[in-house]
Amino acid sequence: MAIVGMTGSGKTVIATNIITIRDFVVVLGTKSADDSLYGPLEAQGFVKVESWDPWEWRETGHKRVIFAPPLELSDEPTPKEVDQAIGDQADKFRTALVQIFKAGGWCVYADEIAYLTNDLGLASVFNLLWLQGRSLGITIVSATQRPRSVPLNTFQMAEWFILYRIADREDRRRASELTGPLAPVVFETAGRLPRHEFAAVHKSTDSILRSRVQLDERERLAA
Ligand SMILES: Nc1ncnc2c1ncn2[C@@H]1O[C@H](COP(=O)(O)OP(=O)(O)OP(=O)(O)O)[C@@H](O)[C@H]1O
Ligand SMILES: [Mg+2]
Repeated sequence: MAIVGMTGSGKTVIATNIITIRDFVVVLGTKSADDSLYGPLEAQGFVKVESWDPWEWRETGHKRVIFAPPLELSDEPTPKEVDQAIGDQADKFRTALVQIFKAGGWCVYADEIAYLTNDLGLASVFNLLWLQGRSLGITIVSATQRPRSVPLNTFQMAEWFILYRIADREDRRRASELTGPLAPVVFETAGRLPRHEFAAVHKSTDSILRSRVQLDERERLAA
């Protein structure tokens, strides 16, 4: 599943509501604190960990995990130390993703796929999961504000597209062009959607629906 929309549209809200239909879910946390993401997940029983292996659930029982390896930085890091810390964080994600590939069966949620694939250099391992993960029972749910900055497989391999309003024409073209025969409808719709409404495209049946997440009272107050 690929989710695209501008900041504040509701990508994190829909993702955190939908991933729980799976039994084994790991959320890739790139920040050590992220209230809009970790709060709702922890309320649903997710456990935040700094190191993780997909087989670990057999000992810990943890099938809903936020894997957030921290950036290990001193108070006044040199540029080299910053690069080193980012590289170390990337290595931890890469190792976990390879282990997921070997284990199969996990649903992986990437809240900003462009950061993981570009900035952390994880495009090749994500491409491996997109191209070969389906038959291993692996689901990738990814969200982005920057459809032009993500690998094509983000969209090409998605069974479901969720599109919120995308004002930028080029971004909209990129996000809609791989939705098959519905591409012109998706392109037009994604330019006009009201705030928090989305178009969902199911690629294998060429169906499209328009909807919005109904937040409960607690979530509305928090928003
Ligand atoms: N269906 C909805 N109804 C009402 N409010 C919503 C709805 N969806 C999201 N919101 C509110 O909009 C705000 C932004 O939502 P969210 O954090 O999911 O956006 P986002 O697309 O992930 O943004 P970003 O790209 O910055 O991460 C939140 O305060 C959230 O509660
Ligand atoms: Mg978000």
